[in-house]
Amino acid sequence: MELLKDMEKHDFEQLVVCQDRDAGLKAAVAIHSTARGPALGGTRMWPYASEYEAFKDVLRLARGMSYKNAMAGLPLGGGKGVIIGDPEKDKSEALFRTYGSFIDRLQGWYLTAEDVGTCPEDMDCIACGTKCVLGTTGKGGDPSPWTARGIRQGMKAALSRFCGKADLAGRVVAVQGVGHVGAFLCRLLAEDGAKLVVTDINQSRAEDIASALGAEKVAPEEIFDVSCDIFAPCALGAVVNDDSINRLKCSIVAGGANNVLAEERHGYELAERGILYAPDYAVNAGGVIFLADQLETYDPDKVMQRINGIYDTCMEIFGLAEKENLAPFVAADTIAEQRMAKGRAEN
Ligand SMILES: NC(=O)c1ccc[n+]([C@@H]2O[C@H](COP(=O)([O-])OP(=O)(O)OC[C@H]3O[C@@H](n4cnc5c(N)ncnc54)[C@H](O)[C@@H]3O)[C@@H](O)[C@H]2O)c1
Repeated sequence: MELLKDMEKHDFEQLVVCQDRDAGLKAAVAIHSTARGPALGGTRMWPYASEYEAFKDVLRLARGMSYKNAMAGLPLGGGKGVIIGDPEKDKSEALFRTYGSFIDRLQGWYLTAEDVGTCPEDMDCIACGTKCVLGTTGKGGDPSPWTARGIRQGMKAALSRFCGKADLAGRVVAVQGVGHVGAFLCRLLAEDGAKLVVTDINQSRAEDIASALGAEKVAPEEIFDVSCDIFAPCALGAVVNDDSINRLKCSIVAGGANNVLAEERHGYELAERGILYAPDYAVNAGGVIFLADQLETYDPDKVMQRINGIYDTCMEIFGLAEKENLAPFVAADTIAEQRMAKGRAEN
């Protein structure tokens, strides 16, 4: 990967690499765009196999945040942070505080929050180094329940588009990953009468959800082979790939994970196979809508209204896709890019 070439191709603004030996910190922050406002996106802690993998991930995730925030109509740009480390072993107060002080040097152009491997208590530690952090325990905490609510709206829109009925009752949903988002999503879907098939590489998490909700549990590798109405990726990205795409037996792909498509061609291939893809950043924006509201005076009614609006956003995407004969991910990018260009023109 030639970093600057890749940054130029996708018009990234900044990539900051942070190191502190005493705190054991190795991190990177990418700002893709501030055209619509300060860049908001969470911080992921993950034991990346190499620095290259971490930089690739932070750039990809930051760009996704620009599209997500623009699609959700938020006055925010897109950014992301990654900390290289194992969240089970490598966390410390000093690590997050030091990371916070690095974020502070960006003078408000990057706002962070939770992501995979980090939690509200980690945000509290980051808050010792900077004010540019959301999702602390005192300020709303975990955004996952809101993310899950938005995904449910996206699923309903996709069902409505696919079969004319936005009703989850009796639908079979295969959920990959029952961590923060996946577990909340499962509870909401069970309330709506959906039949759940769940998996997680953390066996006890999958067992807990399966027994609490009467769901079927399968091994992680088997989730792609489950016959279902909706496949809901709620673990990591790139799960629709050369291997899995031949195995999927679903009508719809809609879930919480970011960057679900390994490559763009997989988005075209889903469309060719008659599988409706609800673009990831459109359906999983509930958490960021909730976090962004903390920048103003918290108004739960406004947050719920905006999250419910994910249904209409998805219908707009599917409508454009049909009208212009586009794959839904291309239709989503078209709408988000128009909104980013408008932000750029106004700034
Ligand atoms: N937390 C949010 O509000 C939010 C918002 C938007 C998008 N997302 C995205 O949603 C996804 C899940 O986020 P989260 O906060 O629930 O993370 P999490 O770490 O709490 O949960 C992820 C779960 O996936 C499991 N997992 C990992 N690899 C797996 C595999 N190959 N097969 C099955 N299970 C696997 C993990 O064991 C874990 O239980 C991530 O991609 C994240 O970027 C999260």
